[in-house]
Amino acid sequence: MLKGKNILIGVTGSIAAYKTATLVRLLVKKGANVRVVMTTDATEFITPLTLSTLSKNSVLIDFKADKTGEWNNHVELGLWANFFIIAPATANTIAKMANGICDNLLLATYLSARCPVYYAPAMDLDMFKHPATIKNIKTLQSFGNILIQPENGELASGLYGEGRMAEPENIVAFIEKKKETSVLKNKKILITAGPTYEAIDPVRFIGNHSSGKMGFALAEELANQGAEVTLVCGPNNLILHNNSIKRIDITSAEELYQASVKVFKNADIAILAAAVADFKPSKVATLKIKKSLGTKSIELEPTKDTLAALGKVKSKKQLLVGFALETNNEIENAKLKIKNKNLDLIVLNSLNDKGAGFKTETNKITLIDKHNKISKFELKSKQQVAKDIVDSIVALTNKKAK
Ligand code: CTP
Repeated sequence: MLKGKNILIGVTGSIAAYKTATLVRLLVKKGANVRVVMTTDATEFITPLTLSTLSKNSVLIDFKADKTGEWNNHVELGLWANFFIIAPATANTIAKMANGICDNLLLATYLSARCPVYYAPAMDLDMFKHPATIKNIKTLQSFGNILIQPENGELASGLYGEGRMAEPENIVAFIEKKKETSVLKNKKILITAGPTYEAIDPVRFIGNHSSGKMGFALAEELANQGAEVTLVCGPNNLILHNNSIKRIDITSAEELYQASVKVFKNADIAILAAAVADFKPSKVATLKIKKSLGTKSIELEPTKDTLAALGKVKSKKQLLVGFALETNNEIENAKLKIKNKNLDLIVLNSLNDKGAGFKTETNKITLIDKHNKISKFELKSKQQVAKDIVDSIVALTNKKAK
């Protein structure tokens, strides 16, 4: 399952860096595309030449290449990766990651990466047990970064205990197992995202401010868990990082409906996060409406409600998740939507919450399932919100399987 994946390896300054050579070799052997980013200190422990030879790619250390003056783009690197594995991760780098410090290329890449981040600590046992390190690891956990537990054994200091970087074979096995154990692996999932544009004439449309970010974050999170995701999305400027996601670009509510109905036939789960226009012009002018001839009103008619349509044909095996954006009587309105549209779960956004809804990087949600279980969440990044939604979907999938 690592075949064809883009894996970025981060190396920091620890004696365990010598093991990274084996890690790179194992990943290349598995068919992964491997690139390496190192801190300057790491180069004292293992040469960039070793890692570039094994990864078959030049190793990046500084923001610019000394000889050519070329800019090493951390954003591009962060977006390229399907996984980022920082191994070894020193106490110093872990502390910087936890605090958003960005004083080298590796850390800038960490801050830019949107993929799952794994880190394998390597340090002396007392450093690993220090409250500061424990606190930093807890912080990284809250960011969703995945700890690869260090192993017990003899340490470089001569002391014996926990702090040895996990063996490369164990790191690879850990990552493969993590992917395989997800109940969502190979599940076929339909996601809708973004706005729809309803044409008035060839140049004008009725639309809304949806950015598509929530739906995209869900698509990435699910694909990272091994699901087969099809994303039906309205006009947006976003790019996908997980290249296993199948993207279908649509413009109007009608196109969203047609594409979704087709994909849903073979889907296990559908999550409808798109902000679909509820109305469209009854007639679309074939030529641009001239100002001088323009009408003062446009006659509208309802668009097809894709969520409701899928709810009607949903089988017992399929799981349907909708979104609701409400301004008042939020919980009651959302519960009504679960019933009327035959949903398993609804993601409720209230426009009364600051930082929630359109055009923001954050969201604040309440999840309500069809058994009326209500879970309220804090304001979080849309990536973190996607993880919360996916956790609830996993719980419902497990329930269905029983
Ligand atoms: N939705 C859809 N197709 C539409 C309209 C909405 O699939 N034509 C989906 C959205 O993707 C979202 C949910 O329905 O999952 C949101 O419904 P919403 O527009 O909030 O509710 P409505 O049923 O339109 O009710 P109201 O406008 O009264 O809130």
